[in-house]
Amino acid sequence: MVSATAAGRPAPLVSSLGYVGVTAVDLGAWEQFGTQVLGLEIAESGPDRLLLRADERAFRVSVTPGDGSCDFIGWEVADAAALGEVAAALGRIGVETTRDPVLAKERSVADLVRAVDPAGTNLEFFYGQETPGTPFKSPTSATFVTGDLGLGHAVLVVPDMAEAERFYLETLGFLESDRVRTPRFDVLFTHCNPRHHSLAMMPTNTGLEPGLHHFMIEVDDLDTVGHALDKVLDGAAQLNSSIGKHINDLMVSFYCQTPSKCEVEYGVGGITIDDATWVPSVHTIENVWGHRRMPGAPPDGMPDGM
Ligand SMILES: [Fe+2]
Repeated sequence: MVSATAAGRPAPLVSSLGYVGVTAVDLGAWEQFGTQVLGLEIAESGPDRLLLRADERAFRVSVTPGDGSCDFIGWEVADAAALGEVAAALGRIGVETTRDPVLAKERSVADLVRAVDPAGTNLEFFYGQETPGTPFKSPTSATFVTGDLGLGHAVLVVPDMAEAERFYLETLGFLESDRVRTPRFDVLFTHCNPRHHSLAMMPTNTGLEPGLHHFMIEVDDLDTVGHALDKVLDGAAQLNSSIGKHINDLMVSFYCQTPSKCEVEYGVGGITIDDATWVPSVHTIENVWGHRRMPGAPPDGMPDGM
């Protein structure tokens, strides 16, 4: 049964961004970047798969050999009933879903349903991810803000915003947080838990390829962001956007290139919101300050970073 938020809107069918899977030509480069810059911990490292932890969960980031594209995005749901609701909701709009017990084992989750979103991004809906006995230990002493807020957020570039809104908002129940709308851009930010946004979408008319533009991971301390930024400035990765503060979630963050095609936003201090009182708004600027796009960075679809 679909419950409702305090504001009367149906509650989202998913509860958080669970994990992200990307492909890369050089898994060794990802291991170095993921551990030394981002502070993620190796859960598994081999020629066919790199798994990284950000908390007590079995993994939060997966890297497999490939051309650097997004492999999959994992959305966590509450339980078996919620997983059934997702499959039913997708079935009602004609989206094929596949329950995959073999993949569930690979992902260390209790059960998993696969689907593909209208832009072709592979999605995995799951519940019950294992928490191995070994405590999480970051190689850079980072502490990530996860728990009920999930891993962070994902930003997708989509060819058809209306279609994406129907899929993610009308069908899966993501709730609008706000928009950033300028003469050239219209970016939609949505949430499925108190994190200001777990999913944002922007159109391909920004000149970007469809798919995962970036994912964000949040730490609990500005110094951790600063230390990671120092490593990037020392050459550990390409800085794509300078440190800055977003206008909507007030996250202080920078963006750098991963060894895959997507970027990572590494931040601190994002706000949480309460559906009982939150009113979606439209912002006409992207940042309080900063997030300047750096020379040599790939286009980000935004005039000065987002
Ligand atoms: Fe972001």
